[in-house]
Amino acid sequence: MNDPEQIDLTVMYAAHDAFRRDLERLEAVVEAGRAGSPHVRAGWENFKHQLHIHHTAEDTALWPRVERAVRRRPQDLALLEDMADEHALIDPLLAAVDDGLSGPADDLAARVRELRASLGRHLAHEEMSALPLIRSTLTPKEWAGFTADIRARQGIKGAAVFVPWVVDGIKPTDRSRFLAALPPPVRVLNRVTWEPRYRRLRLWAV
Ligand SMILES: [Fe+2]
Repeated sequence: MNDPEQIDLTVMYAAHDAFRRDLERLEAVVEAGRAGSPHVRAGWENFKHQLHIHHTAEDTALWPRVERAVRRRPQDLALLEDMADEHALIDPLLAAVDDGLSGPADDLAARVRELRASLGRHLAHEEMSALPLIRSTLTPKEWAGFTADIRARQGIKGAAVFVPWVVDGIKPTDRSRFLAALPPPVRVLNRVTWEPRYRRLRLWAV
């Protein structure tokens, strides 16, 4: 058994919370009839982009690593299949909201609620079952391989949005915990350049 403390899931949990926060904001603006704002549209485009990167990185660089570690354990393998299936279920719900935002759709609020419920169930399932499985099966080196992969995928340009997006509206204690999990130069860049630039985007403003 690995030392669970050697795998730090802070960034994973913080990203999940940022997805939940964005859909809460989307639901509120849709219910208020303000979904036409260009800043809402920009918030939605960024949400989709962040979710795509997150799910693609998990599907290609994380779950295959866990799968190799649990290959003789059918129950764990079934859980990994659930993760892929749940990701696939979310895609058509994203498309339905996309369509609803682009044209007139009386049921936009219902579409957003369905997406929110489905993503919420998936994130809760992942946090309850798959993240503990990561902790108990991956070596710190394998986990580092995944985090290196997601950083390469994001690049510095991606990080410049990802970091301030995660801390947007976050509780001060959670903010400190998340930023402490990042390399010190990233924290400085975020404070000096990324966050001020991100704020000017005014994502989700109506
Ligand atoms: Fe995740």
